[in-house]
Amino acid sequence: RKILILNGPNLNLLGTRQPEVYGRTTLADIEAMCAAKAADMGVEVTCYQSNHEGALIDQIHAAREVYDGIVLNAGAYTHTSVALMDAIVSASLPVVELHLSNIHAREAFRHKSFIAPVAVGQICGFGAAGYPLAMEALVSHLEGTS
Ligand code: DQA
Repeated sequence: RKILILNGPNLNLLGTRQPEVYGRTTLADIEAMCAAKAADMGVEVTCYQSNHEGALIDQIHAAREVYDGIVLNAGAYTHTSVALMDAIVSASLPVVELHLSNIHAREAFRHKSFIAPVAVGQICGFGAAGYPLAMEALVSHLEGTS
């Protein structure tokens, strides 16, 4: 099985960006965690990050041909992007929505997610540990065990 880990805007700054909210783990650390988890589960993983909405949409479209599912941390686009939501529906691939922080415990504008209604489910509030959790959730969904 092949999984795409897609990270959106400002997540390239993890480690130094508001560490009190997002922790000190860098994106490179997270990508290494995902690679280790993939090896553990016997799946293939590719990680991609962009600060650009259109680039994320292009990745989702292209993923259709290549991947079985996507773990998506869309960053702030989560709360604004009808276009990302439409891309997920068009790709018809299972998506697990992920956030490091608990978006429901933060500002009201972060409570709304355009991704949630078109995702298999959402994991948030567990920091970097959420990435391997989301991968597990996606694989068990793909295997029909959740
Ligand atoms: C985030 C939460 C979003 O509200 C925020 O805009 C981010 C990161 C998270 O991982 O906690 O950029 O997606």
